[in-house]
Amino acid sequence: MNEPVVAADPAVMAGLDNYVNLPAAQQPTWPDAQKLIDVKAELSKLPPLVFAGEVDILKARIASAAAGKAFLLQGGDCAETFADATADRIRNRVKTLLQMAVVLTYGASLPVIKMGRMAGQFAKPRSSNDETREGVTLPAYRGDAVNGYDFDEASRAHNPERLLKAYHTSASTLNLVRAFTQGGFADLRSVHEWNRGFTNNPANVRYESLAKEIDRAIKFMAACGADFDALKTTEFYVSHEALLFDYERPLTRIDSRTGTPYATSGHFVWVGERTRQMDGAHIDYLSRLRNPIGVKLGPNTKPEDVLDLMDKLDPNREPGRLTFITRMGATKIREALPALVEAVRDSGAQPLWITDPMHGNGITTKNGYKSRRFDDVMDEVRGFFEVHRAAGTIPGGIHIELTGDDVAECLGGSEHIDEATLEQRYESLCDPRLNHSQSLELAFLVAEALGKR
Ligand code: PEP
Ligand code: CO
Repeated sequence: MNEPVVAADPAVMAGLDNYVNLPAAQQPTWPDAQKLIDVKAELSKLPPLVFAGEVDILKARIASAAAGKAFLLQGGDCAETFADATADRIRNRVKTLLQMAVVLTYGASLPVIKMGRMAGQFAKPRSSNDETREGVTLPAYRGDAVNGYDFDEASRAHNPERLLKAYHTSASTLNLVRAFTQGGFADLRSVHEWNRGFTNNPANVRYESLAKEIDRAIKFMAACGADFDALKTTEFYVSHEALLFDYERPLTRIDSRTGTPYATSGHFVWVGERTRQMDGAHIDYLSRLRNPIGVKLGPNTKPEDVLDLMDKLDPNREPGRLTFITRMGATKIREALPALVEAVRDSGAQPLWITDPMHGNGITTKNGYKSRRFDDVMDEVRGFFEVHRAAGTIPGGIHIELTGDDVAECLGGSEHIDEATLEQRYESLCDPRLNHSQSLELAFLVAEALGKR
């Protein structure tokens, strides 16, 4: 039987285009207007990447995290690249997230919502429009969806055809993610397999002994006649920063069940710290979508900003609708976060609070690398748990930049990555990511903190 098709209210459709009347920060300057029109028309005809029904399930999962009954693990590259959307790289990232999720689930006896910064994270806000190297100034790199990283005029020109490539790369990434997580690879009985292929390090060894315990528990349950259907597959969601209207608008579709608009570019989208102006285009646009959405909050955020954002983005206080992603910096979180969580708590609302311990902890090393100290990342996570414990609110998740590969981009961790090592294994085109071992270590720390929650 076909489900009834509900058309959108004309006012809803007009509302979706209201962003064109508002200031939109961080947008590309496409040189060829006709090409852009053609690209948007093509994008608007391509199939949705995710379905509204999945998005609704995610919203329910996020609601349970906001109520303290689950935990959100969100992670992936700062900027995905077309070149790195290979089977090996995607698998390593998925494996790393699965391993972290097991550490968290086992350590805290809580369901973990797994969400990649993947299959759409191709556009970046930048602090400067240009970049100068040896006297030559060119447009800054804005992510593979906008321009190329190579430092020459042709590569740095904004090219709307890249939006199509971002869509197709997202589609093939998501296809592989779905195959891995639905096709047997994510079966909890493969918990040992996920550790294979990574270089040996103390975090791996610790993981291995945890995997042995899980194995024993599973064998015990099997001997008792337990049914393992629930262990065979896992839900896995994808998310990205909703930055480019020329990508998001054509991929916003009307759900035929309800006649309401959903971003189908990913299950969850967020607004960044640089584009979350109350009267700006991004907040207006996200307010009109049905997806669960996130907003980044930096250290200068005021309690009234947070209350205004809630009223605009979640006026009905719908469970699971809104996630605040705080990125304060290790030295600031203990001063900056309490007033925000207290104001929200006192208003009676229950958004999900998660910590991004990456973006407030950037440094530039003496040898010129953009880096982060692993100790600062860990300290911000600790601060996040402390603040929520003191306020009686729920620390419900983490948002991190990571890769499954053996890179050296963040300093420290049990492998003691130092500045000299950055010169050998630094690959990120944007922000520095935790490598596989640092990601696992972080998961163990969070599991301990969660155990106490
Ligand atoms: C990001 O998540 O890569 C980012 C740019 O973060 P923020 O908006 O918090 O600066
Ligand atoms: Co980043």
